[in-house]
Amino acid sequence: MKILVISDLHSNARGVQAIWERESDADQIYMAGDLVDYGPEPMASIDWVRDHGVHCVRGNHDDRLIRVWQSGEYANLPPEQTAWVHHNCRLLTQSYVDALSALPTHLSFEADGIAYLMTHRYGDAYQTIESRYHFDKYWEAHFDLPGCQGYPRRMIFGHSHRQQIMSFGKDALWLNPGSASYRRPDEPSKDAFYAVIQDGEIDLRHVPYPREALYAEAVRMRPNMMEDEWRVADFFFGWKEEDGPDYPWLELLAERRKKGIVPPGRC
Ligand SMILES: [Fe+2]
Ligand SMILES: [Fe+2]
Repeated sequence: MKILVISDLHSNARGVQAIWERESDADQIYMAGDLVDYGPEPMASIDWVRDHGVHCVRGNHDDRLIRVWQSGEYANLPPEQTAWVHHNCRLLTQSYVDALSALPTHLSFEADGIAYLMTHRYGDAYQTIESRYHFDKYWEAHFDLPGCQGYPRRMIFGHSHRQQIMSFGKDALWLNPGSASYRRPDEPSKDAFYAVIQDGEIDLRHVPYPREALYAEAVRMRPNMMEDEWRVADFFFGWKEEDGPDYPWLELLAERRKKGIVPPGRC
């Protein structure tokens, strides 16, 4: 069986479409959350997940959008209070928000004799599971598929936007496919990241995708949006190799960190 594992679309349907064009022979698609926020295409992203029968969990940015939607406080905001989450809410309808709300936080499944547990993140920030004890404890608390006793166990996380595999021996590991849209600012590649599990074997992959339309929307939104939020999209959708690693957004972020201000909901 071929399983495609993606995560952190962040309102970018073009990244995941590029992945699909390369991996369309996958038997199953699993998605570890953060479908929306920090990008211009929330409807297309939710449509993509629905149209391709993706097995999906809810991320912290999906929760954030649901909260903002329920508050109703996203229309008529001044630019200095407008973030991507407000932009996304203005584009969505109740049925899209209902689709996000209906997603589970954890999903247990089995494939090729291996048991899997998928959730968006471990802990509140960027913690990862770093010991077998914590792996076992989390598995016991959340895995709920009967009949998998003795199977090798794997967890799938998103959220950090880092491609990673952490092994605790031959029968326990967790993996993160990276983000199909954004990654951390110290990783210069802007490709869409993902993982393929072919007959149980994990491969971390990435593919370039066209970012021009995403950048055009970021440019259009610039006068109507908080500078921090605009800079994030500028960096990810507008940045090119020739801009180098010293892009202004990194300076802005470093400056804010020095002052103890961390932009909310970075990933
Ligand atoms: Fe997240
Ligand atoms: Fe994310």
